Amino acid sequence: MAVSFDQIVPWGRSRQEYELMFSLDAEDLSGGVLDCGGGPASFTAELTASGVRAVSVDPIYAFSGSEIHARFEAVVESMISQVRATPGDWVWSYHRDPDDLYANRRAAIEGFLADYENGLREHRYIVGELPSLPFKSDSFGLAVCSHLLFLYSDLLSEDFHVRSILELCRVAREVRLFPLLTLAREPSPHLAAVQSAVRLRGWSSEVVPVNFEFQRGGNKMLRVFRPGGV
Ligand SMILES: C[S@@+](CC[C@H](N)C(=O)[O-])C[C@H]1O[C@@H](n2cnc3c(N)ncnc32)[C@H](O)[C@@H]1O
Repeated sequence: MAVSFDQIVPWGRSRQEYELMFSLDAEDLSGGVLDCGGGPASFTAELTASGVRAVSVDPIYAFSGSEIHARFEAVVESMISQVRATPGDWVWSYHRDPDDLYANRRAAIEGFLADYENGLREHRYIVGELPSLPFKSDSFGLAVCSHLLFLYSDLLSEDFHVRSILELCRVAREVRLFPLLTLAREPSPHLAAVQSAVRLRGWSSEVVPVNFEFQRGGNKMLRVFRPGGV
């Protein structure tokens, strides 16, 4: 599925948000990290700057930095307006208010853009998309996927979710996904099928409460791992 320019909504988070969403510590990052659907998040840029091996994969990396930046400027006001129009849907703790959210999203994409050209050259930003990733098996200690699977359960089928998570389990020894809610703030209908599919493969999974909640009710991640961590 090729992504057309006007479908892109480059809305990215920071390393600090990722660390809270996925309860990350230094040990979790030590085997190399894949940010799947990383978009314009500054996670990979910030990890790289601190000496951690990190790679992002996303179909939008087919576009230049200036194209991604232009799309951010084209959508940012309407994204923030949607948030302002639904104040009860959000928890204003990490982001203090819509203006703070705006500033944080801008800071994240700026961090991403400052790293993007170098990162493309160094093969840290890879064009690719679920459910089939361009990496060898066991390439990473951890793969994270933020605000893609489960969130877009209305658009992405159960079969797509199952194939995508099995693919993430192929390329990484552990997988973490956040949030487990849909855009309508309902529990994803695909969670049970995903947990059942990984169990059939001999993997374990657990729903873990995390110390981060912006989408009201969205304060849990799914952790999928191989028993014994091998
Ligand atoms: C809402 S953004 C989240 C960006 C980032 N993960 C974050 O939380 O800040 C979702 C991202 O998923 C990417 N995406 C869409 N379909 C994808 C697929 N099949 N495989 C990988 N990434 C995909 C989009 O291009 C977009 O950058």
